[in-house]
Amino acid sequence: MEHTGPGQTKHPRLKAWVDDMARLCKPARIYWCDGSRGEWDRLCQQMVDDGTFLRLNPEKRPDSYLCRSDPLDVARVEHRTFICSNSRDDAGPTNNWAHPKEMKATLTRLFDASMQGRTLYVVPFSMGPIGSRIAHIGVQLTDSPYVATNMRIMTRMGQAVLDALGTEGEFIPCMHSVGAPLAPGQADTSWPCNPENRYITHFPETREIWSYGSGYGGNALLGKKCFALRIASVMARDEGWLAEHMLIAGIERPNGEKTYIGAAFPSACGKTNLAMLVPPEGYEGWRFWTVGDDIAWIKPDDEGVLRAINPEAGFFGVAPGTSDQSNPNAMASLKANCIFTNVALTDDGDVWWEGMTDEAPAHLIDWKGRDWTPASTEPAAHPNARFTAPLKQCPSYDPAWEDPAGVPISAFVFGGRMSHTTPLVYQAFNWGHGVYLAATMGSEKTAAADGQAAVRRDPMAMLPFCGYNMADYFTHWLNVGRRLPNPPRIFRVNWFRKDAGGHFIWPGFGQNIRVLEWVLDRVHGRGSAIESPFGWMPRYSDLRWNGIDFPEERFTEIMSVDRERVRQLELGADDPLDQFFDRLPKEFIYERQLLRSRLWRSPAHWEPQR
Ligand code: OXD
Ligand code: MN
Repeated sequence: MEHTGPGQTKHPRLKAWVDDMARLCKPARIYWCDGSRGEWDRLCQQMVDDGTFLRLNPEKRPDSYLCRSDPLDVARVEHRTFICSNSRDDAGPTNNWAHPKEMKATLTRLFDASMQGRTLYVVPFSMGPIGSRIAHIGVQLTDSPYVATNMRIMTRMGQAVLDALGTEGEFIPCMHSVGAPLAPGQADTSWPCNPENRYITHFPETREIWSYGSGYGGNALLGKKCFALRIASVMARDEGWLAEHMLIAGIERPNGEKTYIGAAFPSACGKTNLAMLVPPEGYEGWRFWTVGDDIAWIKPDDEGVLRAINPEAGFFGVAPGTSDQSNPNAMASLKANCIFTNVALTDDGDVWWEGMTDEAPAHLIDWKGRDWTPASTEPAAHPNARFTAPLKQCPSYDPAWEDPAGVPISAFVFGGRMSHTTPLVYQAFNWGHGVYLAATMGSEKTAAADGQAAVRRDPMAMLPFCGYNMADYFTHWLNVGRRLPNPPRIFRVNWFRKDAGGHFIWPGFGQNIRVLEWVLDRVHGRGSAIESPFGWMPRYSDLRWNGIDFPEERFTEIMSVDRERVRQLELGADDPLDQFFDRLPKEFIYERQLLRSRLWRSPAHWEPQR
């Protein structure tokens, strides 16, 4: 088979693997990526010619492209995502499982000739600064040029990675096919895929990823959820580190003190907005720095400090709802060099999505390529429409993103969307209690008929992303903290508390820095707090209120907790931890008992002044 493309390797095992996979998938040609600007231009032009990409107006959105997916291939497919460990118990009750031998047989059948008539792109990528002790390398083989171009934004991709691999460096093999072979003479579509036959599979013991049938997002950009979370979480367990679904941010006070936090939130809780926070009035002289918006790899250094890198190099963010009001830093990141998927096209060749402006343009082409007006009954952009943008274009980009040593993490923040039971902020009593709080975290789904929203448990926001049994993952977290002389402090936050009228109490967005300031104060041993049944809580006077009118009664409302509601939620009949049975760490049984006894003795309605 003819090898083409500018990428050069001296790695015999890599070459042999590519040859093996090419024999299986039978592509028309093999192309080795070098990640250069010239290659990006060529691939983008090729996709423009093929009708996959539409070049946006170069005056409005230079070097940027719009892409429309197949309407059946628009999001991650959790029900088609599998952890193929040798034993079902090692995948745990929250993952789909298939035996590795059976899954390999299925995949071998599917991948056989799956790339017929297409190019196999060899995409070498580093998750994290090349050469960093926290970083790891992967090589993705894909028949999608859309994936190859997205990977150039989302990772450090190309020749520098092949050079770093040398002749025998370690890499995670990532196989990907859209599953749409082309017979001779068969016309292609602008988004080839195979929605009836999708498999997003992970082999933790052999550290391999095989993904078939989808070209979209986390199903296809295998560095992201598949490698950086599902496979990396297994590597982290085996090697004593953490691979987490967390943003990383640095908060700098006017006196120059800079403190880094890692923060985990389930989808739709404003994680990207928090990662790019703009300090509000009253916080003049403060700086907020973005290291990452989605994933953190965290390893202890020789002094026992947890040091984090963002393994990614770009944002793959949800576009709808992003505006100059909600996230001006995200909007500024999108000015050029971006790929937009499933957003709407304006008449002057730019992009639009719901929430970008108060008023919708009078005419658009929607994400399905149809005429759209404000009278249309369907949204112009798909609700999961995405932008792929280089991280360095973010105005709050932290140059420490490049630091191979990573940034020191002082606090972990966990949050969900809870309208009643969870206060604005509280601090765990200690590491073990904090791990318990993070493991029992949940977030509300849409409100049920009785006004009580159903809560989806999402421990550490890792439910769809942990590559092994989550009970073992809790144990791993407990062990990591135990080995550190001074582990980061752990906090729970909730920006989504509602009042009796159903309105959000907390203004959120930039104002969240008031909560983070208290977090930093606690980390640095200067912030005061009172003990509650749930953890350490700030009083009104412990937060700073200049530049905002937020009366003490509102604070009391947002910090108060109804004992019965919490008892029902955390200790009721459907205890979220029960499904893990005897694999649950013993510490959690004690934490549960401690919570039960603290609740037993506390007033029915707990308020921070008491
Ligand atoms: C994401 C997700 O797309 O968490 O980052 O679903
Ligand atoms: Mn995510």
